[in-house]
Amino acid sequence: MADDVPDHLLLRGPSMTVRTPVPGDATALYRLASDPLVTQWFSWGPYQETAEARAYLDRLPEQRALATQLDLIQVHRDLGPVGITGLSEFAFRDRRAMVGSWLGRGAWGSGANTESKALMAYLSFELLGLHRLGAYANPRNGRSVRALEKVGFVREGLLRGWHRHAGEQLDVYVYGMLRPDWEHGPLGAVPVEVEGAVPPAFLRRLQATAA
Ligand SMILES: CC(C)(COP(=O)(O)OP(=O)(O)OC[C@H]1O[C@@H](n2cnc3c(N)ncnc32)[C@H](O)[C@@H]1OP(=O)(O)O)[C@@H](O)C(=O)NCCC(=O)NCCS
Repeated sequence: MADDVPDHLLLRGPSMTVRTPVPGDATALYRLASDPLVTQWFSWGPYQETAEARAYLDRLPEQRALATQLDLIQVHRDLGPVGITGLSEFAFRDRRAMVGSWLGRGAWGSGANTESKALMAYLSFELLGLHRLGAYANPRNGRSVRALEKVGFVREGLLRGWHRHAGEQLDVYVYGMLRPDWEHGPLGAVPVEVEGAVPPAFLRRLQATAA
């Protein structure tokens, strides 16, 4: 990064860490996302070779420098790297962004997703000062729907033909969590430690629209 700030951010909860990915994470990401069940709702994957994970990782520093996307790797205390979670679709003036996540199948149902969502909510509301965190889920993706609703995301509607996947135009539910929902909900109760710094481009964009 051009700024004199290390390009490293880490948030730690009781059993999960989310941190800035590094090139050495490629092998683990390839292994996790070469499973077609993991990527079945995505516009990418499953990975066929490690080079695809490496190419994904190579794109991230520019996304941080341009403040377009903030993807972090999810690392479980015992299982090691388990997936990716990230913020995208930033609307800085309106203090909002969307969160999206995937986990390798071995971490499904482990509580990793709930804790990582707590870390991403802390990043969004506390470190970035956002007022709204949104999420999408395909109505047929029962795990994702339930995983969002049980941690306090509110289903606000159905976006018709929102997402193009395998030649089909798919509907998605849109979810929202506002700052008070977070503060009074289960995610706000998770203790969080922070190391490193939020990429400065995000803070600059927020300051530029402070009102
Ligand atoms: C979505 C994802 C991150 C959620 O993580 P997870 O660890 O599976 O989520 P959790 O186990 O905390 O919650 C899933 C819930 O759905 C329930 N569930 C499982 N299958 C279900 C189904 N077919 N229909 C409804 N609910 C279902 C589980 O019982 C669980 O609820 P419970 O804790 O009350 O028992 C993970 O499943 C994943 O990475 N999936 C593949 C990628 C993906 O689809 N990402 C989301 C894109 S929008």
